[in-house]
Amino acid sequence: MSILSGKHIILGVTGSIAAYKAADIASKLTQAGALVDVILTGAGEKFVSPLTFQSVTGRKAFTDKDLWGDQAHVMHISLGKVADLLVIAPCTADTMAKLAHGIADNLLTVTALAAKCPLLIAPAMDGGMFDHPATQENLKTLQSRGVWVTGPAEGHLASGLKGTGRMVEPAEVLGQIRVALGQNGELTGKKVIVTAGGTQEAIDPVRVITNHSSGKQGYALAQAALDAGAEVTLITTPTALTPPVGAKIVNVKSVQDMLDALLNESADVLVMAAAAADFRPKHVAQNKLKKRDGIPQIELEAAPDILKTVAGSGSKTKRFKVTVGFAAESRDLLENASEKLKSKGLDFIAANDISAKDAGFAVETNRITLLFADGSQETLPLMTKTEAAEKIIEHIARLLK
Ligand code: CTP
Repeated sequence: MSILSGKHIILGVTGSIAAYKAADIASKLTQAGALVDVILTGAGEKFVSPLTFQSVTGRKAFTDKDLWGDQAHVMHISLGKVADLLVIAPCTADTMAKLAHGIADNLLTVTALAAKCPLLIAPAMDGGMFDHPATQENLKTLQSRGVWVTGPAEGHLASGLKGTGRMVEPAEVLGQIRVALGQNGELTGKKVIVTAGGTQEAIDPVRVITNHSSGKQGYALAQAALDAGAEVTLITTPTALTPPVGAKIVNVKSVQDMLDALLNESADVLVMAAAAADFRPKHVAQNKLKKRDGIPQIELEAAPDILKTVAGSGSKTKRFKVTVGFAAESRDLLENASEKLKSKGLDFIAANDISAKDAGFAVETNRITLLFADGSQETLPLMTKTEAAEKIIEHIARLLK
């Protein structure tokens, strides 16, 4: 189940042109199963109407009128009490100043003062206002109190100028919401490395040997580890995917790059979801191979086996408390996976039947059987790569206990 499912989120919307982006945030949160209570400030209402938010959340959107309504004396307390997270996106310089100084003169700021849940703000203002010493002091004050801050980004500002002050994109706010909600998860305090994508082995400056891996399962694993509160490093080959917000991203191409990147990091857990090459050209041509020179004979050599190097029986020390591998097989799934589990010194392996149309490379779903070092097995039903990732992360958390 998604980390957002059933979560109670207050979304504060203040007076910035970026308020229109808040409708997208409210919509995406609702689609992911969150209960979203929007509170607009007076200035926020001037940019987007409460009706817009009510339409996307299916819940009442609150305004300052509600501060003076029938339930005025309890409204701010009750909203703040049930919330798992208070997000203010966009957050103006004025609202940042009020939050920093405990000023509570509208429903949003009074709710922020009463709420016990974490607060995430996405500042949005003109560059000069953000750079002003008053705003910078307020920012520091809020950060020192543990307020999560995302952005602002650099770029075109409503004033027509360029500078730092744009609200970050909704996807970034959504990613930060997940990170903030995951803070007390099962992997809080743990470091997880995930590798993803198909490696590329150069033939010449233009051509590579690669495979069909899309990186989807690895990216889903990185997101699931973040949702569980882990500090995540995603070592990835070039993919078409958007990296999860909050992960440290290390870009690599070849198996050797991936191994070097891995040896540079230390972590509690390694999940080797990448489709790493077994063979690579023995010699990489300095210049582009030309047709006129005839058909090249490309001699291959073994690429390093990353798991065997860092976890297998050949490696001197166990670098990770839990090491997980994948076995992509088109036949003899369990026999082959079981052999890899042992030879690569893994805690468990996710055996993946790539002969099925609904599993393996580039599709959204996977058919996985988990084989554990103690001999136990769990066959997962056909599920999305996100669901499979959550299952794998649950087992990692169990093994770490
Ligand atoms: N793997 C690795 N280094 C490699 C190749 C694979 O660490 N050079 C890892 C993969 O990331 C995966 C596991 O080993 O977690 C199994 O990969 P797979 O391709 O299924 O098996 P191989 O060991 O490469 O054996 P084969 O290709 O013969 O099935």
